[in-house]
Amino acid sequence: MELSGARVLVAGATGVLGGAITAEIVGRGARAALAGRDPSRLAAAAHAYPGVPTARFDAYDPGSCAKAVEQVSAALGGLDAVVVAFGTVAFGTAGEVGDEVAEHLMAVNHLAPAAFFRAALDVLEPGSAIAAVTGVVAERPQKGMADYSASKAALRAWLDAVRREARTAGVGVLEIRPGHLHTGFADRPVAGAAPPLPQGGDPRHVATAVADALAADAELLRTDPAGMPVIERRAR
Ligand SMILES: NC(=O)c1ccc[n+]([C@@H]2O[C@H](COP(=O)([O-])OP(=O)(O)OC[C@H]3O[C@@H](n4cnc5c(N)ncnc54)[C@H](OP(=O)(O)O)[C@@H]3O)[C@@H](O)[C@H]2O)c1
Repeated sequence: MELSGARVLVAGATGVLGGAITAEIVGRGARAALAGRDPSRLAAAAHAYPGVPTARFDAYDPGSCAKAVEQVSAALGGLDAVVVAFGTVAFGTAGEVGDEVAEHLMAVNHLAPAAFFRAALDVLEPGSAIAAVTGVVAERPQKGMADYSASKAALRAWLDAVRREARTAGVGVLEIRPGHLHTGFADRPVAGAAPPLPQGGDPRHVATAVADALAADAELLRTDPAGMPVIERRAR
C-alpha cells in the first residue's frame, strides 16, 4: 500500500502505541482518522492534527465500533486501512481473574477488533488492509495472564482465518505481535497487578515497523528476542 495519501483509521489512537502509529503514518503522508473511548483524551490526541476526523467508541459496545468506521469513512470519502491499537489486560491466576473480567478481556481484545474489521471489510477496496495489535502472548501464553493470553490468541486466530477470506477481495491482514513494550500498559490493568517485567521495547520502533509493514503489504510484525521488530511478508 502506498501510505502517502492513504486514508487510515487508527482505533485506540489515545494509547501510547496508537499515538506513535498515528504520528508515524501521518509523517509519511497518510490522512489519518482517530477513534478513541475518552472524549478529552481523543481531543488531546487529535490536537496535533488539525481537521483530522475523530470518532468515539467503547470496545464494550460492538455497535459503536461499526459506527466509528462508518463515520470516519464518510468523513474521508472512504478508507484504505484500519489499524486497531486498543486493548486491555488483567493479571492474576485464572481463579483470581474470574468470569466477569475474563469476559471483559475477550470483549475488548477480540470481539471489538472483529467488530471494527467486519464494518471495515464492507467498505475497503482491493489494495487496502486491516491491522491489529495482538502480542507475544498470542503465541506464548503466560501464567498469571491466562485470560489476556486467550483473548489475544483468539484475535490472532480470527485474523488468520479472515486473512484467507479477504485475500480474494484483495484486502491484506496484518497482525502486529510485539513483546513487552515500554508504554505503561502493564501498569493500567483492569484487575490485578503486573508481575515484575523486563525492560520493555520502544513503541516508536514498533510504530515505524507498522508503517513499513503496511507499505510492504506484510502479514506479520513480531519482535525478536532482543525486542526489535521483524516484518514477515507472509504469516505462517
Ligand atoms: N505495552 C505492551 O507491553 C504491549 C505488548 C504487546 C501488545 N500490546 C498491545 O498493544 C495495544 C496498545 O497498548 P499500549 O501499550 O499502547 O497501552 P495504552 O497506552 O494503555 O493503550 C491502550 C488503549 O486501549 C484503549 N482502551 C482500553 N479499553 C478500552 C475500551 N473499553 N474501549 C475503547 N478503548 C479502550 C485505551 O483507551 P483510553 O485512552 O480511553 O484509556 C488506549 O487507547 C493493546 O492491545 C495491548 O494489548 C501491548
